[in-house]
Amino acid sequence: MRNLPDFPWDLLAPYGDKAKKYSDGFIDLSQGTPVDATPKFIQEALATASNSPSYPIVAGSEQLRSAMRDWAIKNLGVSGEFDVMPVIGSKEFIALLPTFLQSKKVLYPKVAYPTYLVSGLMASAETIAVDIDAANWPKADLTWLNSPSNPTGQVQSDGEISAVINWARKNNAVVASDECYLGFAKDAKSILALASGDNTNLLAVHSLSKRSNLAGYRAAFVVGDSKLIDQIRQIRKHAGLMMPLPVQHAMIAALSDEKHVQEQAERYNNRRTLLSAALVAVGFRIEHSKAGLYIWCTKGEDGYKTVDWFASFGILVTPGSFYGSDNFIRIALTATDENIAKVVARIKS
Ligand SMILES: Cc1ncc(COP(=O)(O)O)c(C=O)c1O
Repeated sequence: MRNLPDFPWDLLAPYGDKAKKYSDGFIDLSQGTPVDATPKFIQEALATASNSPSYPIVAGSEQLRSAMRDWAIKNLGVSGEFDVMPVIGSKEFIALLPTFLQSKKVLYPKVAYPTYLVSGLMASAETIAVDIDAANWPKADLTWLNSPSNPTGQVQSDGEISAVINWARKNNAVVASDECYLGFAKDAKSILALASGDNTNLLAVHSLSKRSNLAGYRAAFVVGDSKLIDQIRQIRKHAGLMMPLPVQHAMIAALSDEKHVQEQAERYNNRRTLLSAALVAVGFRIEHSKAGLYIWCTKGEDGYKTVDWFASFGILVTPGSFYGSDNFIRIALTATDENIAKVVARIKS
């Protein structure tokens, strides 16, 4: 077996046990798992396609491919030559990419979603955590980018993203830009919008888990460099990594509508506003937390101490050490409005 870190959520279990003993009910703000309903029209598209006796193809149906292409042109601002490919949730793609590309050296953000590091370890690559500024990055085969970020909610500027493109062109390196929270940010741009039509070595990873409350369906896709996507597709064919056909139909429906995404973004923004005010009132400092699903904050103490404090009144949050920063915690906005109101009341009291 490869030398992988402990699975983070196993380390959180004792705090979960403590929080579950709270007499007024347990509220889980530790995982970014959506709780609002999957829009009805998407559920119906899945149900209508439930008679599905034949194997799907790895590339996705023609109808899905054109839905992904049209969506990318309209919503990402991609131009020039590019291709699209469905994946079975973005996590599997992220975890497998360095293995598929046989990357030897992988860069990932210092404070980041843990799967970027794990993906490098799975490929037995050298892994290096880097700051935002690409001007100082070492040479490598592949880098991960994530704006808006999990866990910090930071949105990277056009200049910062352009610097990553320049770094990639100089080093003939691949950039995998995880853009799964892009639909929840007004001012965030896809890396493909800044590539001026030359998408060589650039991949934008998109997921419907959060934008369409579809995490249970496992629906995501990749947009970018045609040659690179074709190489990856060939390996995925050998491995049988096919998106189920009913899910493909649900995804076509989900990509045809942006209204439900805006409604969901508003839900999260309202929750963020309420919770942020309560946290600041009791002495928390909030950093970034502009867009996406999380509040990234600190009480100026070890994150586990803050996790324990929350657990004492029935709430489970995540220590920043899961993401590379010991003194912070991450609070997910993935609870119902009713439960967010309860969390606010408990913090205040
Ligand atoms: C930054 C980031 N990337 C990827 C994922 C994986 O999402 P999914 O596999 O549901 O597409 C998550 C899930 O929380 C995430 O936060």
